Amino acid sequence: MKTRVAIIGAGPSGLLLGQLLHTRGIDNVIVERQSAAYVLGRIRAGVLEQGTVDLLHTAGVAERMDRVGMVHEGVELAFDDKVRRIDLKEHAGGRTVTVYGQTEITHDLMDAREAVGATSVYEAADVTPHDVDTERPYLTFVRGGETVRLDCDYIAGCDGFHGIARKSFPKHVLTEYERVYPFGWLGVLSDTPPVSDEIIYAGHERGFALCSMRSPTRSRYYVQVPQGESADNWSDDRFWEELRRRLPGEVSSRLVTGPSIEKSIAPLRSFVAEPMQHGRLFLAGDAAHIVPPTGAKGLNLAASDVATLFELFVAIYERDRTDLIERYSPTCLRRIWGAERFSWFMTHLLHRFSDNAFDRRVQLADLEYYTSSTAGMTAVAENYVGLPYERLE
Ligand code: APR
Ligand code: PHB
Repeated sequence: MKTRVAIIGAGPSGLLLGQLLHTRGIDNVIVERQSAAYVLGRIRAGVLEQGTVDLLHTAGVAERMDRVGMVHEGVELAFDDKVRRIDLKEHAGGRTVTVYGQTEITHDLMDAREAVGATSVYEAADVTPHDVDTERPYLTFVRGGETVRLDCDYIAGCDGFHGIARKSFPKHVLTEYERVYPFGWLGVLSDTPPVSDEIIYAGHERGFALCSMRSPTRSRYYVQVPQGESADNWSDDRFWEELRRRLPGEVSSRLVTGPSIEKSIAPLRSFVAEPMQHGRLFLAGDAAHIVPPTGAKGLNLAASDVATLFELFVAIYERDRTDLIERYSPTCLRRIWGAERFSWFMTHLLHRFSDNAFDRRVQLADLEYYTSSTAGMTAVAENYVGLPYERLE
């Protein structure tokens, strides 16, 4: 097999890159370890920055999002038995966010890829990049017991945190920065109306809680739980009871509960690998960085990496600008560190880290400041709607 860009991974990063390249006639093949059904079964977040929404338009996959996505003009922070709203539109120059599930985006991208007849190889085992520091890189993988060779010009490692692309960088070129938090989020999906029209982040002394949604009839809630906790220990009743205790009375009194349709625990981690390019191998999305979900940045950062990688491939194939290759990593990393900082900040602002009463008082003072001062609200709003994209040139 032969293509121009070989993409490892059919998550949002790989599928979006593939679709964008297709709009410019740049041939690409996606090689994914799992089945398409498995990829679609993953429940992930769903708050989209305007830049992500715009990119989905560029890729030609925005029709359903435009129809059923929910535009949010504000976000709510709850603490001390009260709710404070931050008006995003007012404090972030008219910008907003759109609530539309990552699973739906993946669905739309897979449908679009199938409609244009682009090649995707699912259930590919032992995917391995070769000769990435030469002009003739290639991938090998095993499909149906046979080893396949895919020759290409470039390889995009869009294979998530546990993927092979980052691991195939030579040890001496890569530096990894990491922080693991001593807690996780227990999430529940339920077919109940959301408790609020807007997303509520609650910083309670018992721990963090989040009220989010997928549609006007489907809710997504989370509570902070200690590291090592098992979802099996949480009956639906126990979950709803704990959520209620962490919300202000005016919110918990409105909470509609029901059977969970999904319940799982996600660990919280901050991680960045530098650089994001070695020879003709590029990393994008979770393959290069992880953020704790508190700032809703994971998917959006993946999208901004993909925007930059797309810009690079267009410059290479349409204007022979291979000199821009070395700008990919520093350009992405500036925005990534901004989002890492914001996700880290939101995590500290809202979670219970210790039972030290002084720390809690400082946290409450921070919550007061960031939800009442214009400067504070602007700092949250402009990061929440997304920092600007930077161009390669
Ligand atoms: N070979 C082939 N495919 C692989 C391999 C491998 N060795 N390892 C992983 N993959 C596949 C995974 O099965 C997955 O489908 O790569 C894909 C990576 O997808 P994601 O983990 O969703 O990563 P990404 O596309 O970068 O999306 C980032 O997902 O986890 C969230 O917060 C994150 O919202 C962000 C988004
Ligand atoms: C979600 O809806 O799953 C969600 C929303 C906001 C976040 C994280 C997750 O910050």
